[in-house]
Amino acid sequence: MVFLMRCLISLGLLTTGFVSAAPVSDSNKQTTTTCAPVHLFVARGTSESPGDGSIGSLADLVLHANPGATQEAIDYPALPFPVYITDVGIGIKAVTDQFARYTSSCPDSTLVLIGYSQGAQIMLDALCGSGSILKGGIGIPTISEAQGKNIAAVVGYGDPGHTAGESWNQGTANTNGSGPITDRGL
Ligand SMILES: *[C@@H]1O[C@H](CO)[C@@H](O)[C@H](O)[C@H]1NC(C)=O
Repeated sequence: MVFLMRCLISLGLLTTGFVSAAPVSDSNKQTTTTCAPVHLFVARGTSESPGDGSIGSLADLVLHANPGATQEAIDYPALPFPVYITDVGIGIKAVTDQFARYTSSCPDSTLVLIGYSQGAQIMLDALCGSGSILKGGIGIPTISEAQGKNIAAVVGYGDPGHTAGESWNQGTANTNGSGPITDRGL
């Protein structure tokens, strides 16, 4: 599987998470009003049903490995072409708003972002900036460095904005995504 990591940081938190595949109970998956030690934002891929989507299997491993951790799914339409670009804009706003809401309530929680496909793109656009309005973004990060100070890991699989050869890429993919975004970087 392709494993991508753009403009980031550390996988220290995640490396503990891969040994167990035991399911996480539903009660651990609710958004909580109390502040968790570790909180996950999970963004599903294009055309997946609302919720965590297929990347939820990775989120479950991280939740299971971090007792008390909580998660929230990014609430966006995840629509395909021909409205994909518009939908990316909606998704970036959803990531930005949900991230701002959680970090203002819980400034000390450790944060993890996990996205697949369009979900990877909107998270990385919010954090790192996106190419331009032609690609659905506004070109600059919409999550500030101060808001992101407690991010421990960001994982994006199957990002359509993937550009081959970037220093933050992980794994074996050596081709571009469908719409490579080259001017990212923190
Ligand atoms: C990926 O896309 C970038 C930007 O369009 C381009 O410069 C680069 O040559 C492409 N790389 C591959 C391997 O297609």
